[in-house]
Amino acid sequence: MSVNSPVRPVMAADILARKGGEPLVCLTAYTTPMARLVDAHCDITLVGDSLGMVVHGLPTTLGVTMEMMILHGKAVARGTSRAMLVIDMPFGSYEESPAQAFANARRLMAETGCAAVKLEGGRHMAGTIRFLVERGIPVMAHVGLTPQAVNALGGYKVQGRGADADRVMEDAIAVAEAGAFSVVLEKVPDGLSQRITQRVAIPTIGIGASAHCDGQVLVLDDMLGLFTDFRPKFVKRYGELGTAADEAIAAYAAEVRARRFPASEHVFPDELKGKQP
Ligand code: KIV
Repeated sequence: MSVNSPVRPVMAADILARKGGEPLVCLTAYTTPMARLVDAHCDITLVGDSLGMVVHGLPTTLGVTMEMMILHGKAVARGTSRAMLVIDMPFGSYEESPAQAFANARRLMAETGCAAVKLEGGRHMAGTIRFLVERGIPVMAHVGLTPQAVNALGGYKVQGRGADADRVMEDAIAVAEAGAFSVVLEKVPDGLSQRITQRVAIPTIGIGASAHCDGQVLVLDDMLGLFTDFRPKFVKRYGELGTAADEAIAAYAAEVRARRFPASEHVFPDELKGKQP
């Protein structure tokens, strides 16, 4: 994004104004080319810490560092001109104190040019969210299944079924009242997601939640079908790029082994005839 850009990027106030209106469209991106594709269609581009698993092959998001978020954040910023760029605060970069959260959020914004940060947690993070918002940092909250707490939650389970519903509802209310401009509801049951959406004044953005949320987010590589062996229930695959890539790589390997690639049109002649390159 550039200050000379003729396109006005989406801001936190624009997202807030969409509460109850046309659904917000959000996807993750981790690289410049993918960010360009996402920017053409989405309201929000999220540099999620899911990049630890999706791009770096880590088992969870717990090993993701500030340096990784900044590197990918800068790459995505180069491909983003219209969508709101939001970057995840990685595990360990904000939980210690509001001051620690401010120092790292400031760094993410200053070094990448992102418009907001996202952090995980409900009531226990409300004070930190308020601290950041009061100091000019827009915050997207994230409740329900919070993957950075996978060890405490005992796995990637649906959150808020039965008697647990009040806890997730209270988390969503707390982050909304603390000043978050939106809240991700991850793996929260349909009915509870609807009730939270009706109850809080900020847009809810669902992932494995409900069509009644104010918006939806998916991990880009999941919805493109880049992984042939990862098929969670909440991901609709809008493409089968993993299969397409596998077929393309197999065809290349076969042609190289058979000396069918490169063909004459892919090599440079020793003598130039006419206007050939
Ligand atoms: O890290 C991520 O990609 C996320 C989204 C799935 C919401 O937090």
